[in-house]
Amino acid sequence: MQLDRFIQLNTPYSRSRVKRLLAEGRVRVAGDTVTDGRLSVDRFVRIELDDQLLQECQGYYLMLHKPAGVVSATTHPEHQTVIDLLPPALRPGLHLAGRLDLKTTGLMLLTNDGNWSRRITQPTSKITKVYRVTTQDAVAANTAEVFRQGIYFGYEDITTQPAEFERLDSHHSRLTLYEGRYHQVKRMFGYFDNEVTELHREKVGDLNLDPSLLPGEFRALTAAEIALF
Ligand code: URA
Repeated sequence: MQLDRFIQLNTPYSRSRVKRLLAEGRVRVAGDTVTDGRLSVDRFVRIELDDQLLQECQGYYLMLHKPAGVVSATTHPEHQTVIDLLPPALRPGLHLAGRLDLKTTGLMLLTNDGNWSRRITQPTSKITKVYRVTTQDAVAANTAEVFRQGIYFGYEDITTQPAEFERLDSHHSRLTLYEGRYHQVKRMFGYFDNEVTELHREKVGDLNLDPSLLPGEFRALTAAEIALF
């Protein structure tokens, strides 16, 4: 939104009065005096008019090592949620940039910035998700080929995007997906009647789960990590 429009919406002042306030150097954005009302401002920048604070909303961007048994939701009647793992002061306004199943572990991203999380979760984004998979039975020899070609999901009436499969050993593999369908990894291995017994998300886009984070621990993303999406 443009700065002049923002001030008009958040004060009782008319358009011409707002123009004058700006010209008089009475508006500060992120601490700097701004006289050009055409400046574009987002909801994470501090905006002051004289000594009046019009907006102070900080963006929060966290990575969390999700443990098994914790639900990816903001509230749940039965289970502990990933939000419950955070200190209460950090929780308001946070949402999840993507979900993991109850038993799945690994990288979860949380934020209060809807534009940022949308860039990660929107189906067209093609942001990769990398999973380490443990299966009940040995993986079939043609798994890489079948996953590359895609698997038909009748419920959604779609064929999955080509996925990259790497065999680590008979029961362990790494799978890179370019989309995030419901229970996708389990359903893909389900094609072979092979049950996924453990699932761990290692990476989203170019962002790896910090290996120093134990299950249940979180940390703020760095500016460079936020800028990846
Ligand atoms: N695919 C699944 O089946 N489960 C997850 O938690 C994530 C991807």
